[in-house]
Amino acid sequence: MADFVGAVDQGTTSTRFMIFDHGGNEVGRHQLEHQQILAQAGWVEHNPLEIWERTQTVIQTAMNARGLAASDLAALGITNQRETTVVWNRRTGRPYYNAIVWQDTRTDRIAAALEREGKGDVIRRKAGLPPATYFSAGKIQWILENVDGVREAAERGEAVFGNTDTWLLWNLTGGIEGGVHVTDPTNASRTMLMNLETLDWDDELLSFFNIPRAMLPQIRPSSDPRSYGSTAPHGPFTGPVPLTGDLGDQQAATVGQVCFAPGEGKNTYGTGNFMLLNTGTEIVRSKAGLLTTVCYQFGAEAPVYALEGSIAVTGSAVQWLRDQLKIISSAAQSEILASQVEDNGGVYFVPAFSGLFAPYWRSDARGAIVGLSRFNTDAHIARATLESICYQSRDVAEAMEQDSGVHLECLKVDGGVTVNDLCMQMQADILGVPVSRPVVAETTALGAAYAAGLAVGLWKNTDELRENWNESRRWQPAWSPEQRENGYARWKKAVQRTLDWVD
Ligand code: G3P
Repeated sequence: MADFVGAVDQGTTSTRFMIFDHGGNEVGRHQLEHQQILAQAGWVEHNPLEIWERTQTVIQTAMNARGLAASDLAALGITNQRETTVVWNRRTGRPYYNAIVWQDTRTDRIAAALEREGKGDVIRRKAGLPPATYFSAGKIQWILENVDGVREAAERGEAVFGNTDTWLLWNLTGGIEGGVHVTDPTNASRTMLMNLETLDWDDELLSFFNIPRAMLPQIRPSSDPRSYGSTAPHGPFTGPVPLTGDLGDQQAATVGQVCFAPGEGKNTYGTGNFMLLNTGTEIVRSKAGLLTTVCYQFGAEAPVYALEGSIAVTGSAVQWLRDQLKIISSAAQSEILASQVEDNGGVYFVPAFSGLFAPYWRSDARGAIVGLSRFNTDAHIARATLESICYQSRDVAEAMEQDSGVHLECLKVDGGVTVNDLCMQMQADILGVPVSRPVVAETTALGAAYAAGLAVGLWKNTDELRENWNESRRWQPAWSPEQRENGYARWKKAVQRTLDWVD
């Protein structure tokens, strides 16, 4: 059998292709960014054709760099930014509209109307989600209502919907020449259209958004021995590789961090932060503002669920310092600038650029920097930005403890921001528990590779995957309990300001 597994990680800012060996070690990679299209306040779009083009390039570049052919890969997995919505014509392969990204808030009226009409509780019960702009259903509804000809085409089964996993799976398996139209339960559980108990599209939920069932992909296990299909010969692999793994990126990171037992969880630091706690085969309904989501479904095994705390803006707040405020020239510089001062100098920054997600779910919240005095400098702002990443994670961790009763002993972390040593130390200080980062920091791509490799027997079971996990670094909390609680109380006050802002 071929020794390697490939994984496409289609993220919010970039697409990467990675190749792993049996030990879970990286063998090759390539990554390319794509354009963020910000046409109006609150709107965020991507060009799906650009994403498909970038995907082909990163695959070809990484494969060529290692001199690998399709036959060297035992399987291929896909992982993706979740919720981001693509609607395209299956006859022409052309998208009807740009992809509407998960951060986009144009559907706030749709979300508010659901709550007003008393549908919110049904959505919470069936889909495990609060009505919010974050999820796919409102974005599909917006396209159906605002782009000419899409509704008729959808009813004919010609206009189809997918998140970026589905879009890439369809293209990789041949596109207009017979591409498969599939997704997995982790992605489907982010649409507000899938019933968590049946793992199928739910007619009542579909009716809330007036979405024709014909446009939705088939839901298949996240790791599927039957394979969704094989890569097409005219695609970037120029030969067949079985596509056997598909997971939303945060669920993939949970798998990559080998959180296979109930009570195990991780926090990923990307453009946003996403903390997931495995709750086993039990569907735990949140009372504290978390989401209930599918964690993974491997083959014919029962699905495993998770509680999730999603935070919209963390790493992208650092990008904001770089691109909008221009007080740093690279993300890495945030650490250097923030290290110039000993503490935040009384400054708290709540980056509620897309409203606030978990545990607040307030799409009307807007960002605020509070506590400023003339003494403060850009270094305090940088420090407050890094702290905001950690305080938002504390908000979510508190909610997680309330909902699950599981006390966090140690936080497993991954994602881009975890290279920021200062930020990880702050996280341990603010949470009061150790923070642990694995050797392979690319847990998202690794998780997709694991799902794909399990399906073809490259790994026998999840115990074998556990053996691949090793710690590279651990940060111990250094703040006194008093310092921790004072800081957190101030943070809560700052959050309140952002909630009070819009009447
Ligand atoms: O739910 C959105 C999430 O999947 C995006 O993750 O890493 O692409 O920002 P990331």
